[in-house]
Amino acid sequence: MKIALIGYGRMGKLVQARARAQGHETGIVATSHDAELTAAELAARLRGYAVAVDFSVAEAVTRNVEACALARLPLVEGTTGWDAQLDQVRRTVEQHGSALVYGANFSIGANLFFRLVAHAADLFAAFADYAPFIEEAHHARKRDAPSGTALKLRELLARHWPVETISVAATRAGHIPGTHRVGFDALDDQILLQHEARTREGFAAGALLAAEWIAARRRGVYEFSALMDQLISERRR
Ligand SMILES: NC(=O)c1ccc[n+]([C@@H]2O[C@H](COP(=O)([O-])OP(=O)(O)OC[C@H]3O[C@@H](n4cnc5c(N)ncnc54)[C@H](OP(=O)(O)O)[C@@H]3O)[C@@H](O)[C@H]2O)c1
Repeated sequence: MKIALIGYGRMGKLVQARARAQGHETGIVATSHDAELTAAELAARLRGYAVAVDFSVAEAVTRNVEACALARLPLVEGTTGWDAQLDQVRRTVEQHGSALVYGANFSIGANLFFRLVAHAADLFAAFADYAPFIEEAHHARKRDAPSGTALKLRELLARHWPVETISVAATRAGHIPGTHRVGFDALDDQILLQHEARTREGFAAGALLAAEWIAARRRGVYEFSALMDQLISERRR
């Protein structure tokens, strides 16, 4: 498969290395030097590719989505920090009959963690003593805070508690690849669930899985959890 890389920072480079190791071809189609490019101009650069993978910056996401939709190129959107634009992004993809898979965290472990947290929330919500909270820590260069993963965790907890009561603390320091902790605190005890990314390789592996998956689908807007549903049911068989 020929994969267009939008953004060629830490994640873009990891995706490229892994894609090549799996026999895919890659091309870098935009970096910060192309910030002024219009969607139509970027779309013109996407000809000949089978799928695009975007790990860039939140400000560029609506342009990148529009470019891929214009080019009818399935897109893996890995960038975080653009949740407020989700409705607009969905409309753009649907209007053009294109395809998109997005997710705050492409690691398989983190996605299993989401499911554990959702189940824990179902249990703890039945006991009024317990109050939930979220803590996350990332490297100093991460721009968005709280992380997209922490926002996703908050969304899961908000099925049971008012969103404004769920405290989210963010730490930015050093080189931490990404740690997320969800706690349920009561007078007598506290329960902690934690996901700790050791490297960024897991994100790149998930992004490539998503690229193969969305390239085969070609139409529709999906969260990474749809791919997880399929993986889990295949492995249970
Ligand atoms: N979904 C997940 O699993 C996951 C995992 C890890 C990270 N992320 C997210 O992915 C994003 C990228 O992370 P990273 O660690 O790779 O960041 P990074 O190392 O800072 O790389 C960002 C890349 O985007 C490029 N860029 C900046 N402005 C651009 C624009 N207007 N158009 C196109 N490209 C542009 C930069 O260009 P230059 O090379 O010229 O600076 C750079 O190549 C962040 O939002 C991060 O939170 C998501």
